[in-house]
Amino acid sequence: MTQTRTAIFPGSFDPPTNGHVDIVERALELFDTVIVGILSHPEKKALFTTKERVNLLEKSFKKYKGRVSVEEFSGLLAEFAKRKKSRVIIRGLRAITDFDYESQMALMNRRLSGGVETVFLVAREENSYISSSVVKQVAKLGGKVTAFVPKHVVNALRAKLSKRKG
Ligand code: PNS
Repeated sequence: MTQTRTAIFPGSFDPPTNGHVDIVERALELFDTVIVGILSHPEKKALFTTKERVNLLEKSFKKYKGRVSVEEFSGLLAEFAKRKKSRVIIRGLRAITDFDYESQMALMNRRLSGGVETVFLVAREENSYISSSVVKQVAKLGGKVTAFVPKHVVNALRAKLSKRKG
């Protein structure tokens, strides 16, 4: 019997970007199923609540029903991976500056989990300068973000930021 190959794609996703969507789509070419793991950290002030981020991600991956699931987690990623019986964590790399932190995290996660491997996927050139924090900054200052996030995220950002102003 062949085993289902599952990978976890963890992150804050505040908000999800086209870069995140692209990494998941490419991970689906390597793995049977991908669990998008949203870190829910009460101490960190996020623009979107965990529930809102779950909804935004579920909408982004609706067409991959059965292959992509969205789950929140808190605490250690290594423990989440063990609970999900996943041997692989996926992370996107945009630039060499990401590598320092990412390799440290990969080594720590492998050590803490007793063997979970991290697979890095290099971001597409057009996504290499996109991050959730830059998107938030641009949106907050009234800039256009339609090229960087899915349409429903543009709408959610608009709604969230106008509510904040009002
Ligand atoms: O999208 P982000 O903010 O780059 O994602 C970072 C994330 C959520 C993957 C990372 O902060 C994480 O895994 N946090 C969980 C806590 C943990 O396991 N820390 C130890 C790993 S070194």
